[in-house]
Amino acid sequence: MSEQRFRFDSLTIGVCYYPEHWDESLWADDLRRMLEDGVAVVRIGEFAWAYFEPEEGVFRFDLFDRFLALCKETGMKVIFGTVSATPPAWLTHKYPEVLNANMEGVLYRHGMRRHYNYNSPVYQEKCAVITAKLAQHFGPHPSIIGWQIDNELNCEMDRFYSEADSVAFRAFVKEKYGTLDALNAAWGTVFWSQTYTDWAQIFVPRPTLQNSPNPHLMLDYNRFVSESCIRFCALQAGILRQHVAPGVFITTNGMFSRLDNHRMARECLDIYTYDSYPNFAFGLNMAGRLDRLRDRWSGKKLTEVRSICPHFGIMEQQSGAGSWTTRMENPTPRPGQMQLWAMQSVAHGADFVSFFRWRTCTFGTEIYWHGLLDYDNRDNRRIAELREFAANLKKLAPLCGADSEAAFAVVKDYDNVFDADLDTWHRHVDAQSDNAIFEVSQLTHTPYDMLYLQEGTTLDELLRYKALFMPHACIMTAARADLLERYVRRGGVLVIGCRSAYKDEHGRCVMTPQPGLLQKLTATDVRDFTFTTPAEETPYALFDGRRMETPLFNDVLTPLEGAKVLARFASSYYAGEAALTENAVGEGRVLHLGSAFSTDAVRLILDYLGLTEPMADVIAAPEDVELVARVKDGRRYVFALNYQSVPMTLTLKRPLRSLLSGSTDEGCVALPPYGVQVWAL
Ligand code: GAL
Repeated sequence: MSEQRFRFDSLTIGVCYYPEHWDESLWADDLRRMLEDGVAVVRIGEFAWAYFEPEEGVFRFDLFDRFLALCKETGMKVIFGTVSATPPAWLTHKYPEVLNANMEGVLYRHGMRRHYNYNSPVYQEKCAVITAKLAQHFGPHPSIIGWQIDNELNCEMDRFYSEADSVAFRAFVKEKYGTLDALNAAWGTVFWSQTYTDWAQIFVPRPTLQNSPNPHLMLDYNRFVSESCIRFCALQAGILRQHVAPGVFITTNGMFSRLDNHRMARECLDIYTYDSYPNFAFGLNMAGRLDRLRDRWSGKKLTEVRSICPHFGIMEQQSGAGSWTTRMENPTPRPGQMQLWAMQSVAHGADFVSFFRWRTCTFGTEIYWHGLLDYDNRDNRRIAELREFAANLKKLAPLCGADSEAAFAVVKDYDNVFDADLDTWHRHVDAQSDNAIFEVSQLTHTPYDMLYLQEGTTLDELLRYKALFMPHACIMTAARADLLERYVRRGGVLVIGCRSAYKDEHGRCVMTPQPGLLQKLTATDVRDFTFTTPAEETPYALFDGRRMETPLFNDVLTPLEGAKVLARFASSYYAGEAALTENAVGEGRVLHLGSAFSTDAVRLILDYLGLTEPMADVIAAPEDVELVARVKDGRRYVFALNYQSVPMTLTLKRPLRSLLSGSTDEGCVALPPYGVQVWAL
């Protein structure tokens, strides 16, 4: 979001609340307690369609009118949700064409949520009507500060196979290609006699043998799902804009796949909000996958959210154990953990944190998804922690709106994100490298940003970073290659991995030496390459005598004129060949790694580039503590977050003032279990 249209002007706490779930006699007391505990905003309404429109064309608002009147009286601010995530029974019963279907065409029926499809004209019309009614009725209310569109677009299901989707997909590809000849060429349909001779033969993916549909169709299908979702969001945003007061923001929550979240935010929203549930890391379904970083993995998502919207909000911050009646997932946060996770959000750039939810629901699928309060409604340790968090946020007031500090950026684009989703070869190397970069960044206290190359991304946005890692841009376009070249010529360092630039925008392989459009930057030639076989020892290379694993896929690099070899493979039949090269271009340089990135490779490259541990002159922290910095008006605010159940010791190399305790600390400082500290530099 190059231009974020709304920002919170103070660090603000919210909660998710459902007036329709509770006896009205509880409302006043709930609002009083919230305000006393430091909550200034409630999000309401997002699932209440069946209340607002009990029968087709019949509307009622009085329950929410009464609730909003109380909010006005008490000074509580409100974020109001549009209701399209949960169509009422009368709607799906009368118009089953609004339902999403599975790939076999079986409809998803009433009883859960998000079971609609974006492309049904009937659903779009019904959503337009209810959104307009809500906006007209509640739009002028002075307590409302923002509107949330739908709830978690593309969550729970991000594939759409209804008849309406096939109709819309046909129109989408017709507009894109104009003629069937162009479509057939783009999708390579001459292969296996897939040639289309009539638009009516085109459908969203349907069951195929081995679940292996045409990959180029799949790439366009992923783009189509994203486009459908953005149009659906834009439909509601357009209606809200006609009715809501100036200064009132429009947002949506969550960050889900098969969706160009950046474009959606740019075109429809004033601020982007995310739902943060770090406790999935401790869930039963993670058994056997518990690794060292656990709940710190949420920081990767937050880094991505920041690339969409630098000063974002958290619409749902986990406050209790999380599970449904059909899932047994994560345990209750340990004392201190709830605040730790809320602080993790703030450290990564959130200026608004709203907890999910005020009180646990006593009925329905989510009776085990615990909120701040349990069923018995008594104050508990989580409420005490909320109060502590609120007191701490007051002390952090100066850093509202502060930017995040990053030593480098990881570059992405949606062509490659969508390609990795369908191409297993791409997906594996991508996941390996993405995770290795995050892990090393966490353990070495070297925060980074993500940067999505989009239409309109400027050279200046790239030049903010000394180095860019673009691990596996399999798809490369001339425009992106040109932007990267201009970045390097101006002094930037570009680091790429194996499998770079061997596909065009349709996902077809190009018939030029690899790395294709990047070859003049890398000065390397890939004449041989292989998926690394599990039958051989883990492949590795030597970088300055140090061992560096080169997992999953190896591009055997031939250096061309000017390229310097930094590391050579030391295993398999290509031992002795180049594994990592460096080439000077203009004022900058390009590193080419002929592999997916292992954690060794990331560490060695970051060290080589002098980027590791940017706060080392001030703080030495153990690997189990995360260090993150936000910067405002020339001041650096360093967060130290202890994710462990035991105390951790840090060393401050000079006196630093703690914003939380007010004291000046130096030397050895203990962080309690799940503790947080923030120092001003
Ligand atoms: C979120 C969702 C909430 C609630 C919560 C707990 O994904 O937006 O409505 O369902 O998860 O399951």
